[in-house]
Amino acid sequence: MAGGVDLICLVFMWSLWSAAYNGATNTLKPGESLNSSSLLVSANGKFTMNFRVYELDPNHSYLVIKWNASHNYAWVANRETPILYPFGVLTLDRNYTLKITHRDGDAVVLYSADSETISGDAVATLMDDGNFVLQEVSDDGSVKRDLWQSFDYPGDVLLPGMKLGVNRSNGHNWSLSCWLTEKSAVPGPFTLDWDPDGHELKIKRHGVVYWSSGVFRDGSFENIKQKSIVSKKNEDYFSYTTLDENAVSEWLLTTIGRLKDFDESIDIAKADSCYGYNTDGGCHIWDQPTKCGRSGDVFEQVNGYFNPTDASGSTVSSRSDSNTSLSISDCKDACWADCNCRGFIFLFPNQTGCHYWTGNLKFIADSAGYSSTVVYFLTTKSDGSCKYSHP
Ligand SMILES: *[C@@H]1O[C@H](CO)[C@@H](O)[C@H](O)[C@H]1NC(C)=O
Ligand SMILES: *[C@@H]1O[C@H](CO)[C@@H](O)[C@H](O)[C@H]1NC(C)=O
Ligand SMILES: *[C@@H]1O[C@H](CO)[C@@H](O)[C@H](O)[C@H]1NC(C)=O
Ligand SMILES: *[C@@H]1O[C@H](CO)[C@@H](O)[C@H](O)[C@H]1NC(C)=O
Ligand SMILES: *[C@@H]1O[C@H](CO)[C@@H](O)[C@H](O)[C@H]1NC(C)=O
Ligand SMILES: *[C@@H]1O[C@H](CO)[C@@H](O)[C@H](O)[C@H]1NC(C)=O
Ligand SMILES: *[C@@H]1O[C@H](CO)[C@@H](O)[C@H](O)[C@H]1NC(C)=O
Ligand SMILES: *[C@@H]1O[C@H](CO)[C@@H](O)[C@H](O)[C@H]1NC(C)=O
Repeated sequence: MAGGVDLICLVFMWSLWSAAYNGATNTLKPGESLNSSSLLVSANGKFTMNFRVYELDPNHSYLVIKWNASHNYAWVANRETPILYPFGVLTLDRNYTLKITHRDGDAVVLYSADSETISGDAVATLMDDGNFVLQEVSDDGSVKRDLWQSFDYPGDVLLPGMKLGVNRSNGHNWSLSCWLTEKSAVPGPFTLDWDPDGHELKIKRHGVVYWSSGVFRDGSFENIKQKSIVSKKNEDYFSYTTLDENAVSEWLLTTIGRLKDFDESIDIAKADSCYGYNTDGGCHIWDQPTKCGRSGDVFEQVNGYFNPTDASGSTVSSRSDSNTSLSISDCKDACWADCNCRGFIFLFPNQTGCHYWTGNLKFIADSAGYSSTVVYFLTTKSDGSCKYSHP
């Protein structure tokens, strides 16, 4: 009897499950589209693709691929064109153009068959590894070739199986680029690249090398302590897989230049701690502003405010740069180069622009958080304790 109840229970569970997945397929066929109320789910259930409203920018949506175990977006189709919610539609049209149309402005074209002759049919599939692939298929459904794939256009996340480096036969360059700010997916200043000549990974800011992995030897990179991965590389490109294939892993390049593994719990590289005077953890050395004597200085991030140390303080001032292409590392860089700069905050709520403090100032920490402003201020690392004073 108990067995019968179990069976009924199972059938009931199964019908619930299929109701939940009803309409959730992993493919898009010519003439089909995906709008803000539908989604694709990979066959193994691990990856979804749909239009999502980003919590920090509630009026806009991005077409994203997301690993269900992570809160990051593994891939964003329209980084530079946030789309007014809920008007985005992804379509594979009958001419095999894969594009996102929306209410205002031009379509974001991901693939267009203009220059190619497609003899059979084409279908776009969200694969079990998180790759969204447009494939030419023959009448019997067998795959003839890949026409386009999301793995060729990485954003700020590297999933197992994705490549960094260069394809010598067509010149394609695979590279990660961080978000401009935590609130904007627009490509920011840091990139993660594979150097096919030096055979190492590099984090660059506006093209300047901040960090490198060192060469791969005895199963790991000199400056990467993480042991749970196997890197697969040939001369031209790098990719990795996890030792345990059920393990969850994704590498994320953050806005401040840090490379983290899965949901920010492990730091692989900290380019935000590279100031050009230190080589710890793989940091590179570069030219310093000569007169400042910044060696040993670091930026600290604390709630607080600046107080003039000299009441007559005629040199005390603050100034702003309203260029909205500037984000945290640009503010740091400019403050660093100005020998009078003591710290900065963002100018705009979306974390762009810079507001600097210069002159004879002392930073007063407000660790109780009465002042809601997070200030980035310069201090000396010397003995590990900070030089700001508490009121
Ligand atoms: C998405 O498409 C379905 C089916 O055509 C339609 O019923 C639904 O209203 C659409 N949703 C949005 C947000 O446009
Ligand atoms: C993700 O999907 C897999 C496969 O459907 C499932 O086993 C797992 O429990 C899901 N994880 C989360 C956090 O939802
Ligand atoms: C979202 O749009 C509404 C209506 O246009 C507007 O009032 C609101 O300020 C917008 N929110 C943001 C964060 O831009
Ligand atoms: C497909 O291409 C033909 C010829 O260029 C054009 O007339 C037609 O409108 C296109 N169809 C779609 C769905 O874009
Ligand atoms: C490199 O490009 C060629 C030509 O487009 C392609 O056939 C090949 O698969 C690509 N190689 C990799 C590793 O993606
Ligand atoms: C690929 O592009 C990145 C970012 O623009 C650049 O830093 C890197 O040097 C390029 N790699 C190659 C091999 O051309
Ligand atoms: C704004 O900043 C960006 C990035 O540093 C720079 O390329 C651009 O020239 C600046 N624009 C103006 C108007 O200064
Ligand atoms: C950030 O905010 C400024 C000021 O409101 C705006 O001009 C700029 O376009 C915004 N930048 C991004 C990337 O959202």
